[in-house]
Amino acid sequence: IALGGGSNIDLAKALCLTLPAGATIRSFIGRIDSATPVLPLVAMPTTAGTGSEATPGAILVDPDNATKIAVMDNRLRPAIALIDPEFTFTCPPRVAADAGIDALTHAIESYVTMDAAAFDFGDDPDPGYSGRTALTMLFARESIRLCAEHLRRSHTATDPVAMREARVGMSHASLYAAMSYGSAGLNAVHGIAYAVAGLTDLSHGTTNAVMLPYVLDALRDVRRDELLTIARLFGIDDADADVAMARLPVVLRDLIGALGVPVTLEACGIREADLDTLTRDALAVTRLAKAFPVPDVAQRYARIVRSAWSGELSFDEGRAHPPLDVQAA
Ligand SMILES: NC(=O)c1ccc[n+]([C@@H]2O[C@H](COP(=O)([O-])OP(=O)(O)OC[C@H]3O[C@@H](n4cnc5c(N)ncnc54)[C@H](O)[C@@H]3O)[C@@H](O)[C@H]2O)c1
Repeated sequence: IALGGGSNIDLAKALCLTLPAGATIRSFIGRIDSATPVLPLVAMPTTAGTGSEATPGAILVDPDNATKIAVMDNRLRPAIALIDPEFTFTCPPRVAADAGIDALTHAIESYVTMDAAAFDFGDDPDPGYSGRTALTMLFARESIRLCAEHLRRSHTATDPVAMREARVGMSHASLYAAMSYGSAGLNAVHGIAYAVAGLTDLSHGTTNAVMLPYVLDALRDVRRDELLTIARLFGIDDADADVAMARLPVVLRDLIGALGVPVTLEACGIREADLDTLTRDALAVTRLAKAFPVPDVAQRYARIVRSAWSGELSFDEGRAHPPLDVQAA
């Protein structure tokens, strides 16, 4: 039984593999043999963010090179996910914000990821992640709507009733996001965030959050309808669809900044001289890079990393924009 945040649930998932086998977790990186016994797990999350209680993965830090590694198998999905939002009421605002941004990132990233029909299954007929479908997109949309309504308040609310309402909303948002990304999978935000985490000691939510606006900005040519839908869920005026789509990354960056998270890679402490290495490390996470739905993944990763370092978004260029209230309309 795992009780705790994503770190505890992932540790428990690792133990489900290592205890019966008497082997170290290192031996389970990559594809796991179908004859390998896996203990069943009951997961009880105390944060609203990772969704690990409903996903096939365990994300661990390799102490030898400080990068994150994923151990992934459908049999690692907990047998029972027992989600009681009350467990999250004691989360300090920082933990609630970091976890909440993680949920929002999961929902958005899986909403815009590669279609299941185009997904590269490699030689695995049943990979943990296999592209988006109408069903995963349904969960993602509802999760994004709930995040637009509750994420900011789950960080700032001091009134107990408002805090409870926001934390319950984010518990649903986190689970729905997991029911989307836990099948559809993720791509560039997490791929680049893992590389950022390798160079800093920032939290998982923070490294994702800093990348999210810049990745979306780079998807405006291939994910037009989706970005417009997300913009509407955030209450952005859609009278001009192109402007609404371009404003979305700016609105998200404002929200992320309001949650106390750095909004550029420079502010995360990354040096300009590290950007090429960062891009290379991000591209090396091939299971995520190959799900980024663009024809020129390497070029876009490089551009996204540069923009995220200097804080450039296309809507910023030469235009003034009023600050927005990002609560849902
Ligand atoms: N397996 C997956 O599918 C998946 C997905 C996303 C992230 N992750 C991983 O999850 C980890 C992050 O998990 P997280 O965001 O839940 O944070 P966490 O589990 O690391 O917890 C963060 C801090 O909050 C404290 N905490 C947790 N619940 C609390 C509560 N109810 N009250 C007070 N304090 C509480 C913890 O003790 C810890 O100090 C990262 O390692 C990340 O890589 C896994």
